[in-house]
Amino acid sequence: MEGDEGRKFLQAGDWLGWKGLDTAQRLGQPEPPWYNVVQDEAQMIQLPEPSAELGTVSVRDVLQQRRSRRRFSDQPLALEELAFLLWSVQGISGGDHRKRTAPSAGARHPLETYVACSGVNSLPPGIYRYQVERHALATLPAAAEASSLKDQLTSGCLGQAFVGAAPVCFLWTVRPERSQWRYGPLASKLIVLDTGHAAQNLYLAAESIGAGTCTIGLYDQDALDGLLGVDGIHELVVYAAPVGFPID
Ligand SMILES: Cc1cc2nc3c(=O)[nH]c(=O)nc-3n(C[C@H](O)[C@H](O)[C@H](O)COP(=O)(O)O)c2cc1C
Repeated sequence: MEGDEGRKFLQAGDWLGWKGLDTAQRLGQPEPPWYNVVQDEAQMIQLPEPSAELGTVSVRDVLQQRRSRRRFSDQPLALEELAFLLWSVQGISGGDHRKRTAPSAGARHPLETYVACSGVNSLPPGIYRYQVERHALATLPAAAEASSLKDQLTSGCLGQAFVGAAPVCFLWTVRPERSQWRYGPLASKLIVLDTGHAAQNLYLAAESIGAGTCTIGLYDQDALDGLLGVDGIHELVVYAAPVGFPID
């Protein structure tokens, strides 16, 4: 319907009005933390640096071959491959944390990247959060038995069985406050645009190592929020993407 809330969301927003708004930043409120703080140092897993040998296929070639992949072999990912993919979607690529492999409106970087892993060499099955500030994984307290992780991913994505069947599933959450601090009510559209950039990086990086992905917009909000143990308000799931080695 013309003029409905969904369409309104797609519009540019009132940027002229925003210039006069009392945003949190203009009110001098402290900037929200730019990464989720690690709760348990003992549960950290350092990732290998993104190997210069991975991702060397030309942009032209990965654009040509990119497809949404929904059938995966049993081949696990190497930890080096997972590390490369995580760096590709959100990694720090310059001298400070605002210089990343993916762009973000105002360099607010509201995304957090989680991976549900059942097939990564030398990584116990479970859910991990990418700690971008140190290129490491934080092990989440087990919300699901490792054996039921695949089932929970499938049901959380409304019966899309290829999600649970993949050796790895990326799950993106957002911390809206990071963007709202500067952009107030105009933040949400920017956050969604940011998410698309990160996801496209995953598509291209996965193709470049012979793997593949299919981004997932159809999912059950409460189920995936619950799987990651996020509250659905200050942090909520916005997108998912199973990754594996395609068999078609
Ligand atoms: C925002 C978005 C949400 C999507 N959600 C799903 C999904 O839930 N399930 C699925 O099988 N494919 C999903 N896809 C993949 C699209 O179906 C796919 O990109 C489209 O069919 C074009 O195919 P291609 O990616 O191979 O070019 C999604 C893609 C995007 C960009």
